[in-house]
Amino acid sequence: MLLTTELVRQLENTNVTVNAVHPGFVQSNITIWHSLSKYLGLGISPEKGANSALFCAQSSQLKGISGKFFDSQTQEIPLPKIATDIHLAKQLWERSLLWSGCQKTTTNDTINYDNYSGISGPYSLKLDSQEIAQITKTIFAEILPKPPGKLLFLRLLKFLWKLKFGSAFLLLVQIWKQEFHMERHLDSPEIWKICQDEKLLAKLQEYLGEKLVLWRSELWVNYPAKQLIPLWHTDSYPKLLSGVGKTINIYIALTEVNKFNGFEFIPNIHKSNNLSIKMTDPFSGNDFLEVTEKLAENSVPVILKPGQFVMFTDELIHRSVCNTSGKIRLSLTLRVTQPTVEVLPNYNPNYQQSVLL
Ligand SMILES: [Fe+2]
Repeated sequence: MLLTTELVRQLENTNVTVNAVHPGFVQSNITIWHSLSKYLGLGISPEKGANSALFCAQSSQLKGISGKFFDSQTQEIPLPKIATDIHLAKQLWERSLLWSGCQKTTTNDTINYDNYSGISGPYSLKLDSQEIAQITKTIFAEILPKPPGKLLFLRLLKFLWKLKFGSAFLLLVQIWKQEFHMERHLDSPEIWKICQDEKLLAKLQEYLGEKLVLWRSELWVNYPAKQLIPLWHTDSYPKLLSGVGKTINIYIALTEVNKFNGFEFIPNIHKSNNLSIKMTDPFSGNDFLEVTEKLAENSVPVILKPGQFVMFTDELIHRSVCNTSGKIRLSLTLRVTQPTVEVLPNYNPNYQQSVLL
């Protein structure tokens, strides 16, 4: 009914009319109760249930009549007040576009992150959009769904042996969902191609110097409407390192990243010094921070086209927004450091050791 209200508004100056119908209780098969109703002598037949819809579609009586509501006897009934709320109708319309993937989420406004401390970009890979599209296709078809069974099993045993129940639980979730995002993909030539991208390496070398150590990487798949980490946090990865040297993280968009599916951050310039820790995530070790609404108002979304990337530091306060773009988001995060920095022995990379880029 809300969509009727919105469609009436949108089609105002056309010959198209839009009306809502209540078919009555129809002996259809949409729930078990509907299916049973036939045997209990309740409701009306599907043929009779089509009556009001057919009336609206065919009757000349309704020429030019729009925004009304008819019952199964084709009698007009008043629309409930809430169904005529144009603001609510508009909201539902916009959300429906998002949920169904019809919303044009691409915005032409590129944000230049150089103005903020903590994140810089966007930069473009040397790989062009067609190459990226091809790589993305291969990732979905071949890389993400294939867990190396034996390694998984050994890994699970190791976690249990070491009483790392959080890690074991996460691994079981991954096995159950058949989604493997972490690190096991560097053996794939497709992903390796991205890691070796000339422009990417040049940017990294500008910051870290000649020798680049890739010590961790994550392939992230964010399915529509599934939430990632909605709490503001800084990543705990530096805790896994020791030694003196710089670190940097690269976030590469393989599909479009926008304000409906990506992550947002608080530019360092807006950060107040003493943000208290609300809690620590038992799984990732990330500190969730107490961020006031006022501070959160300064947050900036990361918006990238496929093949674009940003660089960000470990101190970046960020959170992942829910994916309401209607489309799957795929991204690759590379965590890179200098050879003077060591990965602590208590950190077990899933399937890969650090590699020199
Ligand atoms: Fe994070």
